[in-house]
Amino acid sequence: MPAFTAFVRTARALKPRTAVVLGSGLAGAASAFTEHASVGFGDIPGLALPTVAGHGSRLAVGEWSGVPALLFLGRLHFYEGHARAIVTGTVRTAAELGITRIVLTNAAGGIHPALQPGGLMAIRGHLKLLGHSAWRLLANDNAVSQPYSQHLLEVLRAHEDAAGRELLAGVYAALTGPSYETPAEIRALAACGADAVGMSTALEAEEAARLGLEVAAISCITNKAAGLGDAALDHAEVLVNAKLAVARLGELLGRLIGIE
Ligand code: HPA
Repeated sequence: MPAFTAFVRTARALKPRTAVVLGSGLAGAASAFTEHASVGFGDIPGLALPTVAGHGSRLAVGEWSGVPALLFLGRLHFYEGHARAIVTGTVRTAAELGITRIVLTNAAGGIHPALQPGGLMAIRGHLKLLGHSAWRLLANDNAVSQPYSQHLLEVLRAHEDAAGRELLAGVYAALTGPSYETPAEIRALAACGADAVGMSTALEAEEAARLGLEVAAISCITNKAAGLGDAALDHAEVLVNAKLAVARLGELLGRLIGIE
């Protein structure tokens, strides 16, 4: 695995403390990042190649506004057919490289009426409804009960307050996918307390918390969830609206990476 060995050497020299995972169409949030080295997912032990449009598939190490950082450009999804252990391989790779904090990002559909396309939601909790036992997990979930760091949420809130913006913090429902939800499913999710819906993040957040990492997660609202907007959902709309949110997302990522 020579490509990975060379990458690890660069990463160990740079000593990043924070890793960022950029989800669907969100690579534009990394304009403050200067890359020193990168490696394809296919060259990282324990990972696999992603198959979805809009996802790069590299792990990069470099500096974010001068601060060392690890950056996953793309992630692996359960709906691609990857096992849970592969989906969370990114998190274990980051932990093995010595990081202590991880920031997970994703594209999500807005359920809460205040969440408009192009907006952001900090994740304060999740409903993990993915996997073969999906909804059964609601009644029977023995994972880490609160993976998301209250401290990081407060740092984000304070940053947005200072910028004169409000940051909504809400509950993310992670579903298996790959198809979008039905309007009836969205009504059910709303009744269960979900504010946004997507197909990632929950497994990674729990694995990161289990490994003792500080975890933050931010959803970019790319569309109103099924039945709540005017138009039918499609992946192209998700990618277009993701671009609207990336400048503000990039600022928030820089703030978290810059924490002493
Ligand atoms: N549902 C599920 N996943 C998503 C959505 C959605 O509406 N938008 C972006 N990812």
